[in-house]
Amino acid sequence: MSDVKYTIAAGDDDDDEHYTRFPCLAMVRYAMAGAVTLLAIAVIALVIHAVLRSEDVRLSVNNGFIGADNLWGRTASLGNENQPTSSSINKVEEDDPTISPNIGSSSADPGDDLPIGVASGQSEHAPTILPNIGSSSNGGGLPKECSLGCRPAAQVTLKKAKATNLRVILIAKNPGGRTKIDCSNTTVRLLDVQAPHGVIGELELGNFTVQPQTTITMQKRLSANASYIWDNYPGEVRFSVMVQVNAWVTSFPLGKKTHTVAQSYTCQPVTVGLMDDEWIYATDQVDCTAS
Ligand SMILES: *[C@@H]1O[C@H](CO)[C@@H](O)[C@H](O)[C@H]1NC(C)=O
Ligand SMILES: *[C@@H]1O[C@H](CO)[C@@H](O)[C@H](O)[C@H]1NC(C)=O
Ligand SMILES: *[C@@H]1O[C@H](CO)[C@@H](O)[C@H](O)[C@H]1NC(C)=O
Repeated sequence: MSDVKYTIAAGDDDDDEHYTRFPCLAMVRYAMAGAVTLLAIAVIALVIHAVLRSEDVRLSVNNGFIGADNLWGRTASLGNENQPTSSSINKVEEDDPTISPNIGSSSADPGDDLPIGVASGQSEHAPTILPNIGSSSNGGGLPKECSLGCRPAAQVTLKKAKATNLRVILIAKNPGGRTKIDCSNTTVRLLDVQAPHGVIGELELGNFTVQPQTTITMQKRLSANASYIWDNYPGEVRFSVMVQVNAWVTSFPLGKKTHTVAQSYTCQPVTVGLMDDEWIYATDQVDCTAS
């Protein structure tokens, strides 16, 4: 402003020569005044924008990935164990009633958590089964060329997991940075993106606060519906879900009353996979959009 006064005063003092000598200066002055005005308008617009949007919290799913401790279980069984349908059991019982206890014990799970081909399970069962197999004429599923010393191969079948725990990692940002943001009664649901679009699991994230210009990371486990996973993704090592976050979001606009709204955010595509496979399927953070 002071240079404006100075040039006006100079114009009053000097003759016409001044205007012919400094026409450019006048142009620069106008241009600068225009720029300052634009800048002021831009700043006001930004402030209004920040106040209006101050309730915005940005949520995202870390790596776009949710790790599972397991997605299905395994049954390690003897090679001849896939036979005991009800009809074959009845047939064997007619032939030799003493065999049925052995079949009953071998068709029970020989240890859910046994890794593939555990030797102890086989050596326990082998002596009790082999003599019976030898006595029955059909060989009980063993190849004919196997003599009494031939051991049945362990067979691994997949089955429903007893329980599936998922580790959900959510990131919340408050980029506006003018006020803190409270999220309360926050719930997280995982929905299958494919038909039948069921709920795979839910968890309560409760209450949390994101201070201005900070990012917080929250990790919580949820117990997923193992039946649903088994029914729809048997034996799969990963599948896609949509993550839905519901919260009451409270912001504290400057000079105004606090403002609480019910917000629903959806984040997709998010991969559910085995914890150990995270490095394979991890992506960038998957941002959630308010709906
Ligand atoms: C979470 O916040 C809500 C509302 O702000 C409150 O009613 C509730 O008691 C809080 N829950 C916990 C566990 O602090
Ligand atoms: C949050 O949940 C608590 C009970 O868990 C309830 O008393 C409170 O009213 C809820 N708050 C909101 C904002 O829904
Ligand atoms: C789990 O999913 C099955 C469908 O696969 C459904 O029938 C059952 O109700 C679900 N259980 C829970 C607790 O949601």
